[in-house]
Amino acid sequence: MDLKKYVEAGKIGKEAREYGIDLIKEGVSYYEVAEKVEKYIIDAGAFPAFPVNISVNNVAAHYTPVKNDGLAFKRGDVVKLDLGAHIDGYISDTAVTVEVGTNRWEDLIEASSSALKEALKALRPGIEVRELGRIIENEIKMRGYNPVYNLTGHGLARYDLHHGISIPNYDDGSRATLRPGMAFAIEPFATNGKGQVRNGKGGNIYMLLRFMNLSGFYEELYRRFRTLPFAARWCDFHEDYESLLSRGVKKGFLYHFPILQERRKYVVAQTEHTVVMLDDGPIITTE
Ligand code: CO
Repeated sequence: MDLKKYVEAGKIGKEAREYGIDLIKEGVSYYEVAEKVEKYIIDAGAFPAFPVNISVNNVAAHYTPVKNDGLAFKRGDVVKLDLGAHIDGYISDTAVTVEVGTNRWEDLIEASSSALKEALKALRPGIEVRELGRIIENEIKMRGYNPVYNLTGHGLARYDLHHGISIPNYDDGSRATLRPGMAFAIEPFATNGKGQVRNGKGGNIYMLLRFMNLSGFYEELYRRFRTLPFAARWCDFHEDYESLLSRGVKKGFLYHFPILQERRKYVVAQTEHTVVMLDDGPIITTE
């Protein structure tokens, strides 16, 4: 494990997140925020570990804008800004929820952020993930909301955004433990809905599923993004990228992430940090 690179990626992720928060204002396009935050990460000496996710209101995760989607922030929107940086494949993953111009959902956002805070306080080498899940669920329920049961935090490895372990947002009975040498992201989602997200339409985020015998456009995708998720708008180095992406999905070697959403009338908040566990305790790289 390259601790130095994890720490540096975390620092850049944190700074990009703080920079992004200030950009989210009524009337500003999702596209502008995503592009500016990604440029910030690159200018700081890292690469985006995945496209900046901008998921609004009942959408919990996995939307990234395309240039002409016409989407802009509206007053009262509850915006999840989820981003990551990587250095040489060592990843940070961090998220925050911002409400645009109102504070109607302050308590919901607080339920997610304090769940994360309490989980981080309890972290120690060897802790069972179910204990973190219990803490997260309690903290959210105490405030009258539900965790999203079918979204989890996740292990991280080099060039691998979802590696090995899952960190549930409730006690799922798992005896898996967080041991020294592991890197992972903890991300409590809180909602006034039932706490079950479903797949929606495509969110413009793709990932290669096969890496052998690729040629042309697809080989270039591997060269640029390896095994990490990437945005459709990052592929405009090729004129026909939209049809080539669709073809890759049809042929089964590209994955197109669906957006993950609660039912329409509900709202979801998310907060996330990346942690590296060491023998003498955790380092929170994005804090
Ligand atoms: Co994550």
